[in-house]
Amino acid sequence: MVIGVDRTSRLVRQLTDMTNTESGEIATAQQNVNLGKILGQMADDIGQHYSDTAAIEVDPQLAGICLSVDPSLFTLAARNLLENAALHSGTDGVVRCLVRTETDSIAVVIDDSGPGIPEEELPKVRDRFYRGRNKTAMGSGLGLAIADLAMKRLGGEVYLENRREGGLRAELRLADKVRTDCSENSAARQRREHPVGSISS
Ligand SMILES: Nc1ncnc2c1ncn2[C@@H]1O[C@H](COP(=O)(O)OP(=O)(O)OP(=O)(O)O)[C@@H](O)[C@H]1O
Ligand SMILES: [Mg+2]
Repeated sequence: MVIGVDRTSRLVRQLTDMTNTESGEIATAQQNVNLGKILGQMADDIGQHYSDTAAIEVDPQLAGICLSVDPSLFTLAARNLLENAALHSGTDGVVRCLVRTETDSIAVVIDDSGPGIPEEELPKVRDRFYRGRNKTAMGSGLGLAIADLAMKRLGGEVYLENRREGGLRAELRLADKVRTDCSENSAARQRREHPVGSISS
């Protein structure tokens, strides 16, 4: 059951997000994004909007990781994947967000406890308006198309696979070079906000 949005307003939002992402209406502007903070906010927001979703757990490790990315595009991608995970896992399910790093890449991993996506549907689920066998009452089939496009604009990709233990794994993959040091960021921000000498001058 949906608390704050009905199907039509969701469709309008998805269409607007799709068009804006595609047309470049969202100008890319890099900012330092703390993964723990942004995913925690999304998890709270999703919990407030829907009454029949799984709890979303954000691994505390993510609070120590910052990326230099366009926040609007990253939010569009992560939000659509998180919504899918939470809606498909149901109230008794659980969604886990964690990070996986490799030498040249970093991935935000979203594991859910839903039914997964039938293997034969995996090549098609990113197509616009495609809705699979496990569709929810609310959807319009645009979420994965938006996430895919937003990640491509960030120079990354969306990766999807069914987990051996059940449920879907969705990854937001980016090149490792977008990773920034959170402590350096806050130090730099402090220097900008309180430059040396600003108190006495
Ligand atoms: N986490 C998931 N678990 C199971 N099936 C999924 C999951 N994510 C996506 N799917 C399947 O992929 C299809 C396409 O997903 P997509 O997010 O693009 O559209 P939607 O959720 O149906 O609608 P929208 O996101 O536009 O509201 C869904 O209809 C569903 O069948
Ligand atoms: Mg969706």
